[in-house]
Amino acid sequence: MTIELIPEFQLDPSSKTQIANLLKACFPEEEFHGRTYFKQLPHYRLVMKEGELIVGQLGLDYRVMSLGGQPINVLGVIDVTILPELQGQGLGTKLMKALGGMVSKYTDNVDFILLIAEKHQFYENCGYTLVKQKVKWLTIEEHINYGLQENEFEDCIMIKQVGKKEWKENAELDMFGYWY
Ligand SMILES: CC(C)(COP(=O)(O)OP(=O)(O)OC[C@H]1O[C@@H](n2cnc3c(N)ncnc32)[C@H](O)[C@@H]1OP(=O)(O)O)[C@@H](O)C(=O)NCCC(=O)NCCS
Repeated sequence: MTIELIPEFQLDPSSKTQIANLLKACFPEEEFHGRTYFKQLPHYRLVMKEGELIVGQLGLDYRVMSLGGQPINVLGVIDVTILPELQGQGLGTKLMKALGGMVSKYTDNVDFILLIAEKHQFYENCGYTLVKQKVKWLTIEEHINYGLQENEFEDCIMIKQVGKKEWKENAELDMFGYWY
C-alpha cells in the first residue's frame, strides 16, 4: 500500500476515472456527473494505492481564510473516500494519519487543517475537534456561482491545529471562497 501526494493538474486519465468512480460509489446520494470533484477542483490529492488500484483518496484545498478578522492558513480536506468493499478496516484512519504526519512539520505554512463532516467520531479519532462557528462562504452548485451566504454551524466544521495560532470559537470564519 502506498500513499502519494499528487498535484491535481498532474492526475493521469486512469487516476481521474478511478477517483470519479470512487466518489460516485461513496456518495451515491450526490450527482457528480462523472467528475472528480463536486463543486471545484482541489489543489492536491492524497491517493492511497494498492498497485495501480486507488483504494482511497482525499482532496486538499490550500487557502487563506479570515478568523475573527485575522488571516489564517488553512489546509481543507475534501471528500475523504475509501473503496466501499475495503471500508471499516482502518484504511481511512491510515490516510488521515498520513495527512497529519505530512503536514505537522509545516507549522509556519499551515495554521489549521479544516474539514466539513457528518462522521464526527471518525475524525475525532484522528485528532479533529468540532467547532461552533459563524461562517461566510461562496455558494457554488453545478458550476453556477450563487454569491455569498452567511450562517452559524455547530455540527459540521472540524479543525486540527497545526501551527501556533489558537482557534477562536464563535468568531466569524470567512472562507474567502467556496464551501467544500
Ligand atoms: C468515512 C470513511 C472515509 C472512513 O474510512 P474507513 O477506512 O472505513 O474507516 P476506518 O476503518 O479507519 O474506521 C475508523 C473509525 O471510523 C468509524 N467509521 C467508519 N466508517 C464510518 C461511517 N460510515 N460512519 C460512522 N463511523 C464510521 C469506524 O467505526 C471506526 O471506528 P472504530 O475503529 O472505533 O470502530 C469511509 O468509510 C468512506 O469512504 N465512507 C463513505 C464516504 C464518506 O462518508 N466520507 C466521509 C465524508 S465526511
